[in-house]
Amino acid sequence: MKNVLVLGGTGFVGTHVCEKLVRAGHTVTVATRRWAHAQDVLHLPFVTVLELDVHDAAALAQAAQGHSAVVNLVAILHGNPAAFEKVHVALPQKIAAACASAGVEQLVHISALGADANKAESLPSQYLRSKSRGEAVLLGACRQLALTILRPSVIFGAGDKFLNLFASLQKVFPVMPLAGAEARFQPVWVQDVATAVVKSLERESPGAVTLEACGPEVFTLKQLVELSARLAGVNHGQGRPVIPLPHWAGVLQARLLELKPGAPLMSRDNLASMQVPNVATPGLPGLQSLGIQPAALQPVARDYLSAGAPWHDLLGVRLRSHWR
Ligand SMILES: NC(=O)c1ccc[n+]([C@@H]2O[C@H](COP(=O)([O-])OP(=O)(O)OC[C@H]3O[C@@H](n4cnc5c(N)ncnc54)[C@H](OP(=O)(O)O)[C@@H]3O)[C@@H](O)[C@H]2O)c1
Repeated sequence: MKNVLVLGGTGFVGTHVCEKLVRAGHTVTVATRRWAHAQDVLHLPFVTVLELDVHDAAALAQAAQGHSAVVNLVAILHGNPAAFEKVHVALPQKIAAACASAGVEQLVHISALGADANKAESLPSQYLRSKSRGEAVLLGACRQLALTILRPSVIFGAGDKFLNLFASLQKVFPVMPLAGAEARFQPVWVQDVATAVVKSLERESPGAVTLEACGPEVFTLKQLVELSARLAGVNHGQGRPVIPLPHWAGVLQARLLELKPGAPLMSRDNLASMQVPNVATPGLPGLQSLGIQPAALQPVARDYLSAGAPWHDLLGVRLRSHWR
């Protein structure tokens, strides 16, 4: 049993990580900027929620005291260069310092597929460059502890902002103009990512390990958009016509989406990230190295995407059994 400090534990992946840590017998402290963000973990036994500005180095070092492991899931998808630097680079630096001062023995850092500490500046997006620099910071500063860097492809699961978003858009719009339609992804189930975090904590000897977290299948973005609509029962399961946009039109669409208040559906930086295929790198260890057989997308996604479809309720069950 370990005391684990989880940063970003209130998010989509973080709530699954917290639940799995508790199930594995660990006690968990979840740091959050706002207590109200922690609703999904408050009910878990052996979880303490701590309101904390994780960017305050002294407060973070204080919070790390008494924990033998830290998991970092804090990240942003949109922002200016200063915001990416603060969250993806400066924060890992502060986490490394906090771990050193508190005698933390293990750190699991969630990065992203496509990041690479050795070629940060050649990558096409702010997101990937800053994620890569964050990895480099940790690799340099955390030689005394067991560091695991986990790089997931896009993550699916109930509550994701990915397949759910594509399905919702197609419920509203008759056609889907799509930027980056041929970009490739190897989506991984959120439960597999959470299991990987927990299993990474079984390794206690100092040293760094970098793992990629990918599912068993590769899809283009267009295939994923089409699949999301089919599984959600949009337009009687046929989905909507997906219109691939040429690059210039995709950039223009992203620019217009950025003008809307709030987080954009797609930014130019997101589009730039898609220039790097989001698929497993030959030769790098994956989930299998932790004994995890990653789940296929369709059976899992069908379950949560079809929750709003007309055939999902009791009447649907009866109709299906009638047709069989
Ligand atoms: N979801 C994916 O498809 C995907 C794919 C590849 C990699 N990843 C990586 O997986 C990790 C978890 O992703 P996720 O989808 O679970 O993210 P998420 O739902 O957006 O959660 C991120 C968490 O970080 C905290 N946070 C956000 N902005 C912050 C800021 N400016 N300062 C301090 N804390 C901040 C939030 O906690 P509070 O609001 O409670 O403070 C939030 O719970 C990230 O490292 C992400 O890059 C995700």
